Amino acid sequence: MLHLLRLFLFDLSLCLAVLIWGLFSVISIAENGAALSDLQQKYQYLFLLCGLVVFIDRVIYYIRYYRLHILPYSLKLYNRVNDEKKESKIYLDRFKRYDKKTNTYYFKNRLAIDKEAYIKAKQQIIHLLGFEDKKEIEIEIKAYNKKEIAIRVYKLPKKFDWHIHLLKDKHIYLGHSKDGAIFLPLEDLTSSITCGESGAGKSNFLNMLILSLLHNSSYIEHLDFIDLKGVELSRYKLNNTSFTDNLEGVNDLLQELKDEMNSRFKQMKEKGDLIYDGKYRICLIDEIGTISTHHDKKLKEQIFNNLIELGQKGRASRVLIMVFSQKIDSTNINTNLLTNLQSSCLYRTSSQYNIQNSIGLQEEVEEITRTRVQDFPKGRMIFKHGLTSEKILLQTPYLSQELQYDMIKYFRSWINK
Ligand SMILES: Nc1ncnc2c1ncn2[C@@H]1O[C@H](COP(=O)(O)OP(=O)(O)O)[C@@H](O)[C@H]1O
Ligand SMILES: [Mg+2]
Repeated sequence: MLHLLRLFLFDLSLCLAVLIWGLFSVISIAENGAALSDLQQKYQYLFLLCGLVVFIDRVIYYIRYYRLHILPYSLKLYNRVNDEKKESKIYLDRFKRYDKKTNTYYFKNRLAIDKEAYIKAKQQIIHLLGFEDKKEIEIEIKAYNKKEIAIRVYKLPKKFDWHIHLLKDKHIYLGHSKDGAIFLPLEDLTSSITCGESGAGKSNFLNMLILSLLHNSSYIEHLDFIDLKGVELSRYKLNNTSFTDNLEGVNDLLQELKDEMNSRFKQMKEKGDLIYDGKYRICLIDEIGTISTHHDKKLKEQIFNNLIELGQKGRASRVLIMVFSQKIDSTNINTNLLTNLQSSCLYRTSSQYNIQNSIGLQEEVEEITRTRVQDFPKGRMIFKHGLTSEKILLQTPYLSQELQYDMIKYFRSWINK
């Protein structure tokens, strides 16, 4: 309380000083040369009134942001310096301002600010701000300017429907983050792994990606769908898509993709290009675990070897693989393949192995979201960018069966004509 009073008095005297100085200069210009005592008489009520307004304004400001003013004090967020005489001096962080538009609180320290301290105190900050029981509220802590920290409070939409406006030329829509729709430029697309337990929303996401890819059909030579378990991906039946549901077929297809990749590399070498300048070939594999459980060892090995090579070298030649799996441990997916899939999407899972091998350590996940990965709602995921390694919390929208069917009909009407 004493601390708050001190802050308040300091702030108030600063504001009053600025006010008096400002008023005084205006008056002295207006009343050029008048005696000081006359001025005092004439304007004393004006000074008093303005002073009162400033006082009330400051009181309201301090009452309103009471919790934020005491936050650095309560959570011991300060910077300490030792001078030559070995005396240490403490510089406490201060609440600077609140930005209503982005729902962000800014804190500042005169010397330097410690972001790690805020991240460590995240749970306490949540508690102090009164969000302990509002589990859907997320907070993001970021460094800002040179000596500031921005604490942003936001909510992601829970369930929302996909819409045709989410298709964009040369971009792939991934879902909504706190900043709105996230579109990945087609050139930034890499081979990827999506994991999460059954029912978390992987296949929904897969179909959503396919719609974005089909919208960009003019930049795509062919899309190959593989699923040994279900028939969902056989619905498309477009001139630029094909569906494979048996192991021999998968082996042939991957061999063909690898040959295509190598022939593209040959062309690139001849032309001196670093990136193939033609169209993409993208292969999407749902439930890759079903391949691993197959009894034909030799065929399996061949398939995974080709997949590894595609993962390693595919990007430059624009031959990509996108893999979906419930689990990503070595019994489901070859570890060598996993390390060669650059981007990843993590859906709800209770497997620590899934979390660590797609996004990273527990602490990294905690920096991104308050919700435990095992408690993620349907459609919630963390996306890791394949080129920048940036991690974003996203909610992917729901695509009803009817909507998917309508979209397939729509694509048939112009791709199959
Ligand atoms: N983004 C989402 N929002 C809301 N519900 C979803 C979402 N994605 C999927 N669902 C629901 O969850 C069910 C399972 O989704 P699915 O994509 O098949 O999961 P997975 O492939 O991970 O097993 C779907 O039938 C759908 O009703
Ligand atoms: Mg599925």
